[in-house]
Amino acid sequence: MSGSRVVLGIESSCDETGAGLVRDGRLLGHAVASSMAEHSRYGGVVPEIAARAHVHAVVPVVRQALADAGLRPADIGAVAVTTGPGLSGALQVGLAAAKGYAYSLGVPLYRVHHLAGHVAVDTLEHGPLPDPAVVLIVSGGHTSLLLVRDLARDPIVHLGDTLDDAAGECFDKVARVLGLPYPGGPAIDRAARDGDPRAVAFPRPMTGPRDAPYAFSFSGLKTAAARWAERHRPGRDGQDRPGGAGPTVTLADAAASFQEAVADVLTRKAVAACRDHGVGTLVVVGGVAANSRVRALAEQRCAAAGITLRVPAPRLCTDNGAMIAAVGDLLVRSGAEPAPFDVSVDPSAPLEYALLHPGSGARATAPAPARTPA
Ligand code: KG4
Ligand code: ZN
Repeated sequence: MSGSRVVLGIESSCDETGAGLVRDGRLLGHAVASSMAEHSRYGGVVPEIAARAHVHAVVPVVRQALADAGLRPADIGAVAVTTGPGLSGALQVGLAAAKGYAYSLGVPLYRVHHLAGHVAVDTLEHGPLPDPAVVLIVSGGHTSLLLVRDLARDPIVHLGDTLDDAAGECFDKVARVLGLPYPGGPAIDRAARDGDPRAVAFPRPMTGPRDAPYAFSFSGLKTAAARWAERHRPGRDGQDRPGGAGPTVTLADAAASFQEAVADVLTRKAVAACRDHGVGTLVVVGGVAANSRVRALAEQRCAAAGITLRVPAPRLCTDNGAMIAAVGDLLVRSGAEPAPFDVSVDPSAPLEYALLHPGSGARATAPAPARTPA
């Protein structure tokens, strides 16, 4: 077991530049800058704009995190950085900055899997994860049910993944067809507040008796929402007037009904995974874990099933630097191997270990497919 150090974590895989400082499982300070506003008029993240925004933000964000923690650069004992998955150019900016800090401070560098960061951030609020835990990870790019043991050492077992769109991606696309702004998740969450979740009978994909119990599919739900939007173009006041006949369905009703369908499928499968594997703790993480209905329904269903639910605070569910520092801290304390300084990014890294290293793409059962170095 290595001694503890203050770990600086740097996150730059998408449109948030994050820096966090963690020591011994405690969050000392963090800061986040977002280029989200610059992407909103394009309806999605523009990689080149995101990468340039990271260049501008990374040093100020690290300084801000240090100020938040009341620390100086010399207090940093290790640097952890997201090396994948994510946008190649965006990842490279964070990695270059992390190498600069690690080299100039003479401290080790650790490469971290972005999704492991989403899992580890929960430990900053709720303490070490129980072994084993079922983790539902729901972000803009990934949706998986995982069986997690020791995050710093053990391989992460995938119980099921999405066959097509990720849950967050589905929120973003459906928001677009409903005429709501990017990012769609928070916009749908807000719009749904005044809606009736039973107003529109959206499908619950992959929940039939013959479907894979822990796999997800969101493209059919996305199409159903798009069809609804085409048929019902709501008026300026949000009131839908389908030929003047029948009960009025509002945009808020459609948002609430869509959100209910996603929350229902996610929590139903997550609780089933816990029950089937005899696991007493469910951890829900990633940007979509910030959704108010996902949180409420998970709470309700876990309580009914006698399962302990852990969900990070909403501000830590979306991308940030504290989550990468949290993994770095676990790696340091478990004596993990630091990265060489010629380490590169891996934009499509599969989630197999929290620590990304050459060969981490090799599954126990099958050889890794050849990947072009980024
Ligand atoms: O984890 P994250 O910040 O970035 C990725 O690693 O992808 O997740 C971003 C995703 C976006 O799709 C966003 O719309 C969604 O999380 N999201 C939400 C909410 N807040 C963020 N989805 C539903 N409800 C929310 N309140
Ligand atoms: Zn993320």
